[in-house]
Amino acid sequence: MKYNPFNPNSIVPTNLFAGRKEYILRIIRKFEQVKRGMPSSFFLFGERGIGKTALAKLIKHISEVKDPLLGNLNFLSSYYTVEKGQSINDVLQASLNELTDEIPQTAIEVMGKKLGKLFEKGKFSIGAFSLSYGQNREEMKSTMIRDQLVSILSNIIDSVILSPVSTEEREKKDGILIIIDEINNISDLDKCAQLFRGIITTLDVKEMGYISFLLIGYDTTLKDFFKGDSSSRRHIDSNKLGVMPINEAEEVLIKGFKEAEITWNNEDLKKNIVATGGYPHSIQLMGHNLLEVDKDDNIDDKDWIEAMSRTAIELQKKDFADLYNFNGKQSGREKILDVLAVAGKALTKQEIINYCQIKNIYQYLPELKKRGSIKILPETDKIILHSQLFRTSILLKIIPKIFGENYLRDLFHKEFGKQGKED
Ligand SMILES: Nc1ncnc2c1ncn2[C@@H]1O[C@H](COP(=O)(O)OP(=O)(O)O)[C@@H](O)[C@H]1O
Ligand SMILES: [Mg+2]
Repeated sequence: MKYNPFNPNSIVPTNLFAGRKEYILRIIRKFEQVKRGMPSSFFLFGERGIGKTALAKLIKHISEVKDPLLGNLNFLSSYYTVEKGQSINDVLQASLNELTDEIPQTAIEVMGKKLGKLFEKGKFSIGAFSLSYGQNREEMKSTMIRDQLVSILSNIIDSVILSPVSTEEREKKDGILIIIDEINNISDLDKCAQLFRGIITTLDVKEMGYISFLLIGYDTTLKDFFKGDSSSRRHIDSNKLGVMPINEAEEVLIKGFKEAEITWNNEDLKKNIVATGGYPHSIQLMGHNLLEVDKDDNIDDKDWIEAMSRTAIELQKKDFADLYNFNGKQSGREKILDVLAVAGKALTKQEIINYCQIKNIYQYLPELKKRGSIKILPETDKIILHSQLFRTSILLKIIPKIFGENYLRDLFHKEFGKQGKED
């Protein structure tokens, strides 16, 4: 059996990571400021399977490798994935303990002496150790937790960055990166923003702002997070991760093909990659199936046709049968969904009418919404498909019509540029 480097359910290894250059460069630029004591934190959000975890793991790697082309960063960093129902205190405590794995023993000993109760038996522990009862108990508790975290972080910053205990060059650090993934699972999300703001600004005032938090969640998580404390928006940049442009999607497949040491036809790749909608989960799934169906170590059009039908069947098993009629006759509902799938972004009602050529789309919208096939964005009243995975499954269904019958040709060309222009 040949080696299949594609896997939609695991995290892509660094050498097969593709695209996302803009995001990476933007974050490296911010990390270069962190190196100079200017704190910089991020909230990375976007739907499931869009590539948040993959990007965050790559960023962690870049922050540690000291690559002169990538900001020459030598951060102390931790990566923590929140489990359902954990509190922010537990999560931060665990993140700090993960950091200690990288801290040299000599520095740990020095810190231990200074931190007392907060650092016992080689572990940080935070919490409200002694609190008198009173009116502002909750508030006092939050302040105390924040102060404990600041105290631990200032000790770490002091002993590995500002006045490193170790004389070994490789053990000196220039910043701290704390990554928290699946922050949507935190039980007390409403308290988080204020806590992070408190930590960041206090360290900054102490001239110890060598810190970056990278928080990861969904669109709704972001809203709930900032609802807890809107002033924290100034300290935490929101970055939305969207689908990949077609050239980056191609790059994902090409890297995998090279890794598997097989050849491919570039024209077939360019033509068919659009079926993934640039959604990383679907690209991986398609790549996986392409390698499964290929028999001669060369990916050609026949492999694509087979892989697309396999991918489509797998996706349609995911409950999408209720959201789109994949087998029966197409109605106005499907036409609307087709337009949204090809567009790949939110459209106004008028735009939908123009492309799907049905005058009265209004009779279909309430039911599409009720079934969950579409969402209506409250800010703009524009309409968007339920998810990227759903979009891929529609694209796979209609791609033959798009190429064969010029179905939705104008919209397709508008959205996918030069691809498939031969007519
Ligand atoms: N830039 C990328 N290059 C290659 N594969 C990627 C990239 N981004 C994501 N993937 C792959 O897509 C799938 C979904 O990505 P993941 O990071 O788990 O999404 P999320 O964390 O947003 O749910 C994973 O298999 C992942 O390895
Ligand atoms: Mg993830």
